[in-house]
Amino acid sequence: MKIALGVSGGIAAYKAAEIARLLQDRGVRVQVVMTRSAQEFIRPLSFAALTGEKVITDLFSTGGETPNLDSAVEHISVAQSIHALVVVPATADILAKFAHGICDDFLTTLHLATTAPVIVAPAMNVNMWNHAATQQNLQTLRARGVHIVEPGSGYLACGMIGAGRLAANEAIVDAVMQVLEVKPGAAAERDLVGETILVTAGPTREKIDPVRYISNRSSGKMGYAIAEASAQRGARVLLVTGPATAKLPELANLEVTRVESTDEMRSAVLGLLPQATVVIKAAAVGDYHVKAIAEHKIKRGGPLTLELEPNPDILKEIAARKHNQIVIGFAAETQDLLANGRKKLESKSLDAIVINDVSRDGIGFDSDRNAVTILTRDGETVVAETSKCEVAHRILDQISPLRAHRPARA
Ligand code: CTP
Repeated sequence: MKIALGVSGGIAAYKAAEIARLLQDRGVRVQVVMTRSAQEFIRPLSFAALTGEKVITDLFSTGGETPNLDSAVEHISVAQSIHALVVVPATADILAKFAHGICDDFLTTLHLATTAPVIVAPAMNVNMWNHAATQQNLQTLRARGVHIVEPGSGYLACGMIGAGRLAANEAIVDAVMQVLEVKPGAAAERDLVGETILVTAGPTREKIDPVRYISNRSSGKMGYAIAEASAQRGARVLLVTGPATAKLPELANLEVTRVESTDEMRSAVLGLLPQATVVIKAAAVGDYHVKAIAEHKIKRGGPLTLELEPNPDILKEIAARKHNQIVIGFAAETQDLLANGRKKLESKSLDAIVINDVSRDGIGFDSDRNAVTILTRDGETVVAETSKCEVAHRILDQISPLRAHRPARA
């Protein structure tokens, strides 16, 4: 496996060296391509020493009086030899050039010349990240199937706080490995053709008054990762999502229904259930709603008591109405994980349950990473901390063995 590692000019350019090393540790050959401004941040020699390969820095490396023809067509041979083009860090400028098909140096020309999958890990100042131009460019790239390893939030090199910090090394490496693994065995990966998978994701919101609501910390990332992985593996996906903060995947075989409250999620899910062959309930459903929603904004005053009423358990209702569907639930737990998970597996008549330890820092809520235990009636699968994308695939891997116990599809 060989990738081209594009390095564009940002403070995070030095981190590309670590990514190159990590990918090499996984047996990937790395051809580094640097933009002119990247070379202001890190010397090509560092990458050459690390990778043992010549670093490409120019579209026309003259090396003498006349431009060298070999180097003039090198982008075509590199374009044809790579299994992925990975850009770390991807600056606002490189995203803009990719989005608009500009090719004014080796990296941007390679981008147009290759048919290999493209993965970008953006890093920039928070205002540049939030700028409508950058967001629109990202939207364009996403729609084109470019994989975007979302930046994290925190202190940025420019002294500001916010989104724009290069994603963690592991998240970038996982994203690359995921793409490289899917490529050779594409046929084997499309193991969910014929399935219609109903996925729920995100939080629910229960109104208090016209401006306030009760909700939870779910970002929707886990559910969206499941929806995306299901669609990539060939399933038709019916995604019912609460108001999540994660970016919705854009895939042709994905149909999205947006809901707010538990009650709306319940109606949507029960309405779609007859079409589904598999149900995966990753949503963090609110367990209570406000008994009497105030018609007008509640004014500030003394202590306020809200009376809450329990919501119906959607998963239990699915279990009661299902025909032959495979139903996979989630359990968000902070203690006695396995015992509580097993109880939910039984009480909600599930085929499998994915147990999340929501008390652990750095995984779960709003993180790109997770660690879970998947319980079925036949045993348990422990998925150690990894990307949510990888967790999604390990959950989907359960469908085929569970299906083997079924006489026929719903
Ligand atoms: N769930 C549901 N409807 C609800 C509550 C939860 O469908 N009203 C589903 C969730 O989507 C998840 C599973 O049930 O797949 C478990 O959710 P969780 O919050 O872990 O458990 P609860 O059943 O709410 O129990 P508790 O909060 O007491 O742990």
